[in-house]
Amino acid sequence: MNIPDIIIAVDGYSSTGKSTFAKMVAKEFAFLYLDSGAMYRGVALAAMEAGLVQEDARFDEPALQALLPTLDLHFRREDGTTKLFLGERCIEPDIRTLAVSNYASPVSALPFVRHFVDDKLHGFAADGRVIMDGRDIGTTVFPNAQVKIFMTAEPVERARRRYEELIAKGEKVTLEEVAKSLEERDYRDSHRSASPLRQADDAYELDNTHMSLHEELVWMLGLLQGKFGLLESPRLSW
Ligand code: DC
Repeated sequence: MNIPDIIIAVDGYSSTGKSTFAKMVAKEFAFLYLDSGAMYRGVALAAMEAGLVQEDARFDEPALQALLPTLDLHFRREDGTTKLFLGERCIEPDIRTLAVSNYASPVSALPFVRHFVDDKLHGFAADGRVIMDGRDIGTTVFPNAQVKIFMTAEPVERARRRYEELIAKGEKVTLEEVAKSLEERDYRDSHRSASPLRQADDAYELDNTHMSLHEELVWMLGLLQGKFGLLESPRLSW
Protein backbone atom coordinates (compact mmCIF):
# COMPACT_ATOMS: atom_id res chain seq x y z
CA MET A 1 0.00 0.00 0.00
CA ASN A 2 1.32 3.41 -0.92
CA ILE A 3 1.48 5.32 2.31
CA PRO A 4 3.29 8.63 1.97
CA ASP A 5 6.51 9.37 3.90
CA ILE A 6 4.79 10.65 7.00
CA ILE A 7 5.55 10.70 10.70
CA ILE A 8 3.32 8.52 12.85
CA ALA A 9 3.25 9.40 16.56
CA VAL A 10 2.19 6.72 19.03
CA ASP A 11 1.68 7.87 22.62
CA GLY A 12 0.08 6.33 25.68
CA TYR A 13 0.46 4.98 29.17
CA SER A 14 3.17 2.52 30.22
CA SER A 15 2.80 -1.05 28.99
CA THR A 16 -0.09 -0.43 26.65
CA GLY A 17 1.80 -2.24 23.90
CA LYS A 18 2.96 0.90 22.07
CA SER A 19 6.29 -0.52 20.99
CA THR A 20 4.86 -3.86 19.89
CA PHE A 21 2.22 -2.03 17.87
CA ALA A 22 4.68 0.49 16.41
CA LYS A 23 7.22 -2.21 15.48
CA MET A 24 4.50 -4.21 13.75
CA VAL A 25 3.27 -1.19 11.78
CA ALA A 26 6.87 -0.25 10.89
CA LYS A 27 7.50 -3.72 9.52
CA GLU A 28 4.24 -3.89 7.62
CA PHE A 29 4.54 -0.51 5.91
CA ALA A 30 8.35 -0.16 5.76
CA PHE A 31 8.74 2.65 8.28
CA LEU A 32 11.67 3.32 10.59
CA TYR A 33 10.68 2.53 14.17
CA LEU A 34 12.07 4.76 16.91
CA ASP A 35 11.47 4.18 20.61
CA SER A 36 11.73 7.52 22.41
CA GLY A 37 11.31 5.90 25.85
CA ALA A 38 14.54 3.97 25.19
CA MET A 39 16.36 7.30 25.14
CA TYR A 40 15.09 8.21 28.62
CA ARG A 41 15.97 4.73 29.77
CA GLY A 42 19.45 5.16 28.27
CA VAL A 43 19.95 8.43 30.15
CA ALA A 44 18.71 6.80 33.37
CA LEU A 45 21.11 3.88 32.91
CA ALA A 46 24.05 6.17 32.24
CA ALA A 47 23.16 8.23 35.33
CA MET A 48 22.92 5.08 37.46
CA GLU A 49 26.22 3.74 36.19
CA ALA A 50 27.90 7.07 36.82
CA GLY A 51 26.63 7.03 40.41
CA LEU A 52 24.43 10.09 39.93
CA VAL A 53 21.28 8.71 41.55
CA GLN A 54 20.68 9.99 45.03
CA GLU A 55 18.01 9.12 47.58
CA ASP A 56 14.32 9.16 46.60
CA ALA A 57 15.20 8.68 42.94
CA ARG A 58 16.70 12.17 42.77
CA PHE A 59 19.60 12.89 40.47
CA ASP A 60 22.74 14.91 40.88
CA GLU A 61 21.43 17.38 38.31
CA PRO A 62 24.59 19.46 37.68
CA ALA A 63 26.62 16.27 37.18
CA LEU A 64 23.94 14.81 34.92
CA GLN A 65 23.80 18.00 32.88
CA ALA A 66 27.57 17.74 32.41
CA LEU A 67 27.32 14.05 31.51
CA LEU A 68 24.68 14.41 28.77
CA PRO A 69 26.83 15.96 26.03
CA THR A 70 29.33 13.13 26.45
CA LEU A 71 26.70 10.42 25.88
CA ASP A 72 26.75 8.95 22.39
CA LEU A 73 23.21 7.51 22.50
CA HIS A 74 21.96 6.40 19.11
CA PHE A 75 19.85 3.77 17.40
CA ARG A 76 21.16 1.11 15.03
CA ARG A 77 19.15 -1.19 12.85
CA GLU A 78 19.96 -4.76 13.74
CA ASP A 79 18.12 -8.03 13.07
CA GLY A 80 15.23 -6.18 11.46
CA THR A 81 14.67 -3.86 14.40
CA THR A 82 16.17 -0.72 15.96
CA LYS A 83 18.33 -1.05 19.04
CA LEU A 84 19.77 1.56 21.36
CA PHE A 85 23.54 1.90 21.62
CA LEU A 86 25.74 3.85 23.99
CA GLY A 87 28.86 4.28 21.92
CA GLU A 88 29.70 0.78 20.68
CA ARG A 89 27.74 -0.95 23.45
CA CYS A 90 24.24 -2.26 22.74
CA ILE A 91 22.31 -1.34 25.90
CA GLU A 92 18.91 -2.81 24.94
CA PRO A 93 18.93 -5.56 27.61
CA ASP A 94 20.27 -3.21 30.32
CA ILE A 95 17.58 -0.56 29.83
CA ARG A 96 14.62 -2.97 30.15
CA THR A 97 14.95 -3.84 33.84
CA LEU A 98 12.42 -2.72 36.45
CA ALA A 99 15.10 -0.59 38.18
CA VAL A 100 15.82 1.37 34.99
CA SER A 101 12.06 1.72 34.33
CA ASN A 102 11.66 3.26 37.76
CA TYR A 103 14.50 5.78 37.23
CA ALA A 104 13.56 6.61 33.63
CA SER A 105 10.35 8.27 34.74
CA PRO A 106 11.91 10.82 37.16
CA VAL A 107 14.82 11.44 34.79
CA SER A 108 12.34 12.22 32.01
CA ALA A 109 10.73 14.92 34.16
CA LEU A 110 13.93 17.01 34.05
CA PRO A 111 13.55 19.72 31.37
CA PHE A 112 17.24 19.64 30.35
CA VAL A 113 16.99 15.88 29.79
CA ARG A 114 13.87 16.41 27.65
CA HIS A 115 15.70 18.99 25.52
CA PHE A 116 18.61 16.62 25.05
CA VAL A 117 16.33 13.74 24.01
CA ASP A 118 14.07 15.89 21.79
CA ASP A 119 17.08 17.20 19.85
CA LYS A 120 18.30 13.67 19.26
CA LEU A 121 14.84 12.46 18.20
CA HIS A 122 14.50 15.25 15.65
CA GLY A 123 17.88 14.29 14.22
CA PHE A 124 17.05 10.57 14.04
CA ALA A 125 13.73 11.30 12.27
CA ALA A 126 15.15 13.85 9.83
CA ASP A 127 14.70 11.57 6.82
CA GLY A 128 10.99 10.99 7.54
CA ARG A 129 8.89 7.81 7.16
CA VAL A 130 9.15 7.22 10.86
CA ILE A 131 6.88 5.73 13.49
CA MET A 132 7.90 6.86 16.97
CA ASP A 133 6.38 5.88 20.29
CA GLY A 134 6.49 7.66 23.63
CA ARG A 135 4.49 9.98 25.86
CA ASP A 136 4.66 13.36 24.12
CA ILE A 137 5.44 12.58 20.50
CA GLY A 138 2.12 13.87 19.13
CA THR A 139 1.93 16.79 21.55
CA THR A 140 5.50 18.13 21.78
CA VAL A 141 8.13 16.30 19.72
CA PHE A 142 6.16 16.14 16.46
CA PRO A 143 3.00 18.22 16.97
CA ASN A 144 2.58 18.22 13.16
CA ALA A 145 2.76 14.44 12.81
CA GLN A 146 0.23 13.46 10.14
CA VAL A 147 -1.07 10.47 12.10
CA LYS A 148 -1.33 10.36 15.89
CA ILE A 149 -2.40 7.37 17.93
CA PHE A 150 -3.09 7.37 21.66
CA MET A 151 -2.98 3.89 23.17
CA THR A 152 -4.77 2.78 26.30
CA ALA A 153 -5.60 -0.50 28.01
CA GLU A 154 -7.08 -1.38 31.37
CA PRO A 155 -4.51 -1.15 34.22
CA VAL A 156 -4.97 -4.76 35.33
CA GLU A 157 -4.27 -6.00 31.83
CA ARG A 158 -1.25 -3.73 31.46
CA ALA A 159 0.25 -4.97 34.76
CA ARG A 160 -0.33 -8.56 33.72
CA ARG A 161 1.45 -8.05 30.37
CA ARG A 162 4.41 -6.27 31.92
CA TYR A 163 4.72 -8.85 34.70
CA GLU A 164 4.84 -11.70 32.18
CA GLU A 165 7.45 -9.85 30.13
CA LEU A 166 9.71 -9.37 33.17
CA ILE A 167 9.25 -12.93 34.42
CA ALA A 168 10.10 -14.27 30.97
CA LYS A 169 13.34 -12.30 31.19
CA GLY A 170 14.15 -13.92 34.51
CA GLU A 171 13.48 -10.90 36.76
CA LYS A 172 12.23 -11.72 40.23
CA VAL A 173 9.20 -9.48 40.65
CA THR A 174 5.67 -9.83 41.94
CA LEU A 175 2.52 -8.75 40.13
CA GLU A 176 1.86 -6.26 42.95
CA GLU A 177 5.29 -4.63 42.50
CA VAL A 178 4.75 -4.30 38.77
CA ALA A 179 1.24 -2.87 39.21
CA LYS A 180 2.55 -0.36 41.76
CA SER A 181 5.45 0.66 39.51
CA LEU A 182 3.08 1.19 36.57
CA GLU A 183 0.67 3.23 38.66
CA GLU A 184 3.48 5.47 39.95
CA ARG A 185 4.97 5.97 36.50
CA ASP A 186 1.60 6.81 34.96
CA TYR A 187 0.95 9.33 37.70
CA ARG A 188 4.39 10.93 37.39
CA ASP A 189 4.38 10.93 33.59
CA SER A 190 0.99 12.63 33.39
CA HIS A 191 1.48 15.11 36.25
CA ARG A 192 4.96 16.49 35.57
CA SER A 193 5.17 20.08 34.38
CA ALA A 194 7.54 19.42 31.45
CA SER A 195 5.60 17.93 28.56
CA PRO A 196 3.22 15.67 30.50
CA LEU A 197 1.57 12.65 28.97
CA ARG A 198 -1.79 13.61 27.48
CA GLN A 199 -3.80 12.72 24.44
CA ALA A 200 -3.35 15.18 21.56
CA ASP A 201 -6.66 16.68 20.40
CA ASP A 202 -6.20 15.16 16.96
CA ALA A 203 -5.05 11.70 18.13
CA TYR A 204 -7.05 8.54 17.45
CA GLU A 205 -7.55 6.46 20.57
CA LEU A 206 -6.75 2.78 20.45
CA ASP A 207 -7.88 0.77 23.49
CA ASN A 208 -6.34 -2.66 22.98
CA THR A 209 -7.45 -4.33 26.25
CA HIS A 210 -9.39 -6.94 24.31
CA MET A 211 -7.62 -6.81 20.95
CA SER A 212 -5.17 -9.17 19.30
CA LEU A 213 -2.15 -7.80 17.45
CA HIS A 214 -3.75 -8.70 14.16
CA GLU A 215 -6.86 -6.73 15.10
CA GLU A 216 -4.67 -3.74 15.94
CA LEU A 217 -3.03 -3.96 12.54
CA VAL A 218 -6.39 -4.15 10.76
CA TRP A 219 -7.53 -1.11 12.79
CA MET A 220 -4.43 0.80 11.66
CA LEU A 221 -4.92 -0.21 8.08
CA GLY A 222 -8.50 1.09 8.19
CA LEU A 223 -7.29 4.37 9.66
CA LEU A 224 -4.59 4.84 7.00
CA GLN A 225 -6.95 3.91 4.19
CA GLY A 226 -9.54 6.38 5.44
CA LYS A 227 -7.02 9.13 5.99
CA PHE A 228 -5.15 8.86 2.72
CA GLY A 229 -8.11 7.86 0.57
CA LEU A 230 -6.53 4.57 -0.42
CA LEU A 231 -9.23 2.41 -1.89
CA GLU A 232 -7.30 -0.73 -2.62
CA SER A 233 -7.08 -3.04 0.38
CA PRO A 234 -3.59 -4.53 0.56
CA ARG A 235 -2.98 -8.02 1.78
CA LEU A 236 -1.42 -7.88 5.23
CA SER A 237 1.63 -10.02 5.75
CA TRP A 238 -0.07 -11.81 8.63
O1 DC B 1 7.94 3.88 27.08
P1 DC B 1 8.93 3.55 28.19
O2 DC B 1 8.33 2.84 29.34
O3 DC B 1 10.13 2.85 27.67
O4 DC B 1 9.44 4.98 28.73
C1 DC B 1 10.34 5.10 29.81
C2 DC B 1 10.06 6.38 30.57
O5 DC B 1 10.38 7.50 29.73
C3 DC B 1 8.60 6.56 30.98
O6 DC B 1 8.45 6.49 32.37
C4 DC B 1 8.22 7.94 30.53
C5 DC B 1 9.39 8.49 29.81
N1 DC B 1 9.05 8.96 28.46
C6 DC B 1 8.72 10.28 28.32
O7 DC B 1 8.62 11.01 29.28
N2 DC B 1 8.48 10.77 27.07
C7 DC B 1 8.56 9.99 26.00
N3 DC B 1 8.33 10.51 24.79
C8 DC B 1 8.89 8.62 26.14
C9 DC B 1 9.11 8.12 27.40
